[in-house]
Amino acid sequence: MNEIKGSKILVIGGAGFIGSHVIDELLKEDVGEIVIYDNFARGVFDNLGASLKDSRVKIFELGGDVLHTDILDRAVQGKDYVFHLAALWLLHCHEFPRSAFHVNIEGTFNVLETCVRHGVKKLIYSSSASVYGDAVELPMTEDHIYNNKTFYGATKIAGEHMCRAFYNRYGLNYTGLRYMNVYGPRQDYKGTYIAVIMKILDRIDNGLPPLVYGDGSQSYDFIYVGDTARANICAMKSESTDKNYNVGSGIQTSIKELAELILKITGSDLQIQYEPSGQTFVTNRIGDPRRARDEIGFDFDMGLEDGLRNLIEWRRANIDLVNKRREGA
Ligand SMILES: NC(=O)c1ccc[n+]([C@@H]2O[C@H](COP(=O)([O-])OP(=O)(O)OC[C@H]3O[C@@H](n4cnc5c(N)ncnc54)[C@H](O)[C@@H]3O)[C@@H](O)[C@H]2O)c1
Repeated sequence: MNEIKGSKILVIGGAGFIGSHVIDELLKEDVGEIVIYDNFARGVFDNLGASLKDSRVKIFELGGDVLHTDILDRAVQGKDYVFHLAALWLLHCHEFPRSAFHVNIEGTFNVLETCVRHGVKKLIYSSSASVYGDAVELPMTEDHIYNNKTFYGATKIAGEHMCRAFYNRYGLNYTGLRYMNVYGPRQDYKGTYIAVIMKILDRIDNGLPPLVYGDGSQSYDFIYVGDTARANICAMKSESTDKNYNVGSGIQTSIKELAELILKITGSDLQIQYEPSGQTFVTNRIGDPRRARDEIGFDFDMGLEDGLRNLIEWRRANIDLVNKRREGA
């Protein structure tokens, strides 16, 4: 087990959806200092409200862009562990491939190089199930082929391979985490496969039937954001290195089942309205969670129904923020 008592930690992309939950999970541990490094391209202060009250948490005041290597260097200096979650999201990469290349590939290279320079004990890299593309076999183990066809997935594959090359050349320990479809409190409308949850809730609020595209049979592996954050802590503590792990529940849920569950939780008697299918990047995704359980001790905890209840409760309590994000989506 890696020693984390009193350790100094940098969370790159810490103001984002998953990163802010990683900070919450770190605060449950006996760590010394947590510094958030984020350029706030998508991250928001509202995500950090509670954690910033803890004196161990600071936002790096000189800046927070992974492309600003001199500033990044200063932020990494003296840190024991680094979490790298900063990235442009799938649709952004689709529309702006060159920016995707800069932020997700060059930015990751910058993080790796800086971690080597400062002798960081371990890097936790946020990869994605997008590296697998459409499943050729289910559930997808970590040995599933790279069947990706998107720019976003391409950047994540590059990131994984760069981690491996830095480990082999310079001995930088790392774990890569391939998140499935992460949902939960603080999510916005930009998540490609999970925005549907927010959109269904909006429709229900307005007395309109939830829209499902196609026949609703597209299936995903939904994993609660708190569990995803905990997987990061398991990876930090684990001595496993130079490996990538799925972070998912291993449970297949179709969009139709998801919509039905949301209708049930909200007590709505509206019926699903089916619409012709639009653009979909991946239609079938379930990750095999066993390797993460066996090798880094991560298992999901939160079932979909309870997780959705938490999300709905958070959405109600933060409706002004949700409205602001919907407009910016
Ligand atoms: N949410 C999911 O379902 C999911 C699934 C698979 C993988 N991932 C990966 O997990 C990580 C976190 O995802 P998220 O959902 O929290 O996304 P997010 O966009 O909420 O968080 C990413 C953070 O990185 C910051 N950022 C962007 N560009 C930056 C730059 N140039 N320099 C510094 N910071 C920058 C953003 O402001 C944001 O706070 C990402 O790497 C993402 O690709 C997410």
